[in-house]
Amino acid sequence: MTERSTATRAATEHLRPDEVGMARAAELLLAGRLVAFPTETVYGLGGDATNGEAVAAVYAAKGRPAFNPLISHVSDVAMARRLGGFDPIAEALAEAFWPGPLTLVVEQAPGCPVSALATAGLTSIALRVPAHPVALDLLRDVGRPIVAPSANRSGGVSPTTAEHVLADLSGRIAAVVDGGATVVGVESTVVACLGGVARLLRPGGITRGAIERVVGMPLADAPESVPDAPQGPGMLASHYAPRAQLRMDAREIRPGEAVLLFGRERPAGIDGASVVLNLSEDGDLIEAAANLFAYLRRLDITGAAAIAATPVPQEELGEAINDRLRRAAAPR
Ligand code: TXA
Ligand code: MG
Repeated sequence: MTERSTATRAATEHLRPDEVGMARAAELLLAGRLVAFPTETVYGLGGDATNGEAVAAVYAAKGRPAFNPLISHVSDVAMARRLGGFDPIAEALAEAFWPGPLTLVVEQAPGCPVSALATAGLTSIALRVPAHPVALDLLRDVGRPIVAPSANRSGGVSPTTAEHVLADLSGRIAAVVDGGATVVGVESTVVACLGGVARLLRPGGITRGAIERVVGMPLADAPESVPDAPQGPGMLASHYAPRAQLRMDAREIRPGEAVLLFGRERPAGIDGASVVLNLSEDGDLIEAAANLFAYLRRLDITGAAAIAATPVPQEELGEAINDRLRRAAAPR
């Protein structure tokens, strides 16, 4: 299976998550084709993790550099244990948070069938059991690990609806299963359980505090740079970026800026904004996370040259929200 040329590219099938649609999605995945599907965090671009060509096609469809490893999604812990070695910390975290928005990076199990392309040649592997009925059904039907990065063009804003997926990848992937808007809205938290230490590689849908309560000690932070061991796209400085230039922690608004508010505070200059969206009037971080990527896309398609985001507290899900805003704001 290879990418077809633009001229012969078939239309992307828009599947319903009913019996017919799910059977079709499983059939396509087993044939090495790419199928986007909803998870509780964002839509994933699925491909058979054990099929090197399918994994290569995932990188190609996204335009993603192949040195960035992918998460292998599985239907349950038993399947995860066949792919990776779980130390007591990993066991405790899987027990506490799976299915859910947590990705565990562990050492690969001997004979792990996942393509080396998916793990970018590392000896570790990223594993996740998603908490979405469509994702779980699909994983069970296929019976194989499925790699699934966010279903957007590399570097862009992650999709939280099937329409977002189609806007980015229509004609580049075989199908999308439409399960409506995702609920969490930011990607999974990535925790490495290697060498007896739990390390936070990417803040996400499960808060640092919740993980530390299970681990029983503070999480180590990700190393600043790991030249020989790429930590993945979520770790690239510029990522999740809209077309418009974004600045965060904005306390006053410049004329013509598109504005992403959080809470009830109205920054100076707000009346000169071209468009205003509020992540959460009530200052609810869960609601804000769920709205984040869809609102970035909505502000971006207004054609505004600049987006100003007002401060979001660096606590609970605010850590993941600020992480995504920081990367969206980073120089490209
Ligand atoms: O919520 C999510 O995690 C979504 C949904 C679709 O499941 N997926 C997602 O995948 O965000 P992606 O490919 O955009 O992010 C993969 C992350 C990278 O940022 C990287 O930190 C980590 O997983 N990763 C993957 N393999 C790794 C490895 N062997 N070592 C360290 N980090 C790894
Ligand atoms: Mg992504």
